Amino acid sequence: MYKKSLPLVLAAFVAFAAPAPAVAAEALAPPKQHWAHQGAFGTYDKAALQRGFQVYKEVCAACHGMKLLSYRNLAGIGYNEDEIKAIAAEYTVIDGPDDEGEMFERAARPSDRFKSPFANDKAARAANGGALPPDMSLMVKSRHHHENYLFALLTGYTTPPETDAEGEPIIVPAGMYWNKYFAGNMIAMAPPLVEDGVSYADGTSASVEQMARDVTQFLAWAGEPHMEERKQMGIKVILFMLVFAGIMLAAKRKVWAAVH
Ligand code: HEC
Repeated sequence: MYKKSLPLVLAAFVAFAAPAPAVAAEALAPPKQHWAHQGAFGTYDKAALQRGFQVYKEVCAACHGMKLLSYRNLAGIGYNEDEIKAIAAEYTVIDGPDDEGEMFERAARPSDRFKSPFANDKAARAANGGALPPDMSLMVKSRHHHENYLFALLTGYTTPPETDAEGEPIIVPAGMYWNKYFAGNMIAMAPPLVEDGVSYADGTSASVEQMARDVTQFLAWAGEPHMEERKQMGIKVILFMLVFAGIMLAAKRKVWAAVH
């Protein structure tokens, strides 16, 4: 019985173990980068977060919202109350209804959520050739390879190769752009970063790579603003456990010493 089914089992094994056929235009795995905030003791680089916010605000926010963030959350990247009030006040939001039942416009306050660039998803698609620019609040967490993917995507625009794996010519349709790291390689987002696209408040020179690195860190922070507290708590818990284990060991020795 077993002998008869052995070839079958082997065939099945070979079928599963064989390498998958190469898919045309498969996205490259993003190279690993060093990020200051990673690792057990890693903390956010506040200067990079502020530069990254500037990139988001001046570039990405034209198309991408960050619905889960309020202006007052910017205290977490080192802005004080007055600075946050001033940032919020740059935006106009719709509030109401007032006593007459009318909606009205007012300047945004620190407690307001980040203002979305479009009134709704349909308006967002209409402005972007049918493609929806996704919300950035949890973008770094939601994609495989996280920070490394976002950085690679932002710096991964190239001219396409002439032919694909099957030798067919590659044609990038109008409104689409070739990106090495995007699944399928054709993305409906034009390269958002250009050399000196922002003029950094702290004087850092704004290369595409610098801006990509900074905005990636800002978006990583936005997805996990309490990471530093979480890590500190972990370290405290481990220290407590070590001390507690020592006390228990000493107690055990004392109790059992009398037995002999
Ligand atoms: C002019 C509008 C526009 C701007 C500006 C823009 N994007 Fe996009 N973005 C889009 C659109 C449209 C898509 C959807 C692309 C698609 O699905 O093909 C997108 C998709 C994305 C994605 C998702 C990729 C994926 O894996 O699905 C990320 C991440 C992203 N943008 C980051 C950024 C960042 C960071 C900035 C600022 C540096 C930025 N974008 C600026 C329009 C824009």
